[in-house]
Amino acid sequence: MPSQKVYKHQLHLVRKDQKYQAFLCLSNQTIDFLTEQLNDYLHPKEWTIFQALKAPKRIHSYAIGRYCAKLASNFFFNEQNLAKINISSGVFEHPTIEYPWHENIRVSISHSDQWGGAISFSEKHPMAIDLEVINPDRKSTIASQLTVHELKIIQNLPLESAAAHTLIWTLKEALSKVFFCGLMTPLKVFEVEVVSIENNLFISKFKNFGQYKGYSFLFGSMALSITLPARSSIQSDFSAFASSLQANF
Ligand SMILES: CC(C)(COP(=O)(O)OP(=O)(O)OC[C@H]1O[C@@H](n2cnc3c(N)ncnc32)[C@H](O)[C@@H]1OP(=O)(O)O)[C@@H](O)C(=O)NCCC(=O)NCCS
Repeated sequence: MPSQKVYKHQLHLVRKDQKYQAFLCLSNQTIDFLTEQLNDYLHPKEWTIFQALKAPKRIHSYAIGRYCAKLASNFFFNEQNLAKINISSGVFEHPTIEYPWHENIRVSISHSDQWGGAISFSEKHPMAIDLEVINPDRKSTIASQLTVHELKIIQNLPLESAAAHTLIWTLKEALSKVFFCGLMTPLKVFEVEVVSIENNLFISKFKNFGQYKGYSFLFGSMALSITLPARSSIQSDFSAFASSLQANF
């Protein structure tokens, strides 16, 4: 498969006495490409689901989500045939890898507009991803879901308002995905406490989940957040990865 329109980053995660790896894959492959290549990455069980999809938006999101998830999780499997990896949905619709030798590898998926993204990681080290297109028309809807404290944070971010709202939104969605509850839980629970800036990255802490933190960046018209354990430091150059995307879009 050609690698253009695919952006990958291996995250080296270091804790006091342990090291972990995670793998991020983003893509804006077109639906034409994704449908041409279906045989190369969709498992027969995914094919059945895919064929039943009707809405063009969902056809693209399912395909690009699975495509990114296969590329991300295959970092751990090194499988020649991505179609051997099945990513089914758990009871809360969370993505669940079915692959014989998967050794507790998990994947988190997100898609918005033309983009898909996935991050694979060990279940010993929970993580999640959320991607969202920055759409000024959605700003007031997002604002209505945020706390007074978060709206104050937004005012102080050196970002255009819709971008700042979307960034906070992705943080909360990414945190909710770590717990498989999505946004079925009252959103206030996932309140962002503080956002600091390092180079081109926004690093956040959460009021009720001190054990997690978020890393976010903007590229093109997109906001992206990943959540990870607070005491893990990213030793790979995540900022350079963000810069390369920012330079391209
Ligand atoms: C999870 C959720 C926050 C996703 O937000 P979104 O902005 O609409 O969509 P995103 O593109 O960012 O993410 C979608 C992906 O999240 C993953 N996902 C779905 N539910 C999830 C959950 N409970 N936990 C973690 N990940 C989940 C899926 O992989 C999905 O992609 P797929 O359907 O192509 O496999 C949202 O769907 C939600 O709140 N779901 C609540 C869970 C739910 O309603 N379950 C229904 C039955 S119990």
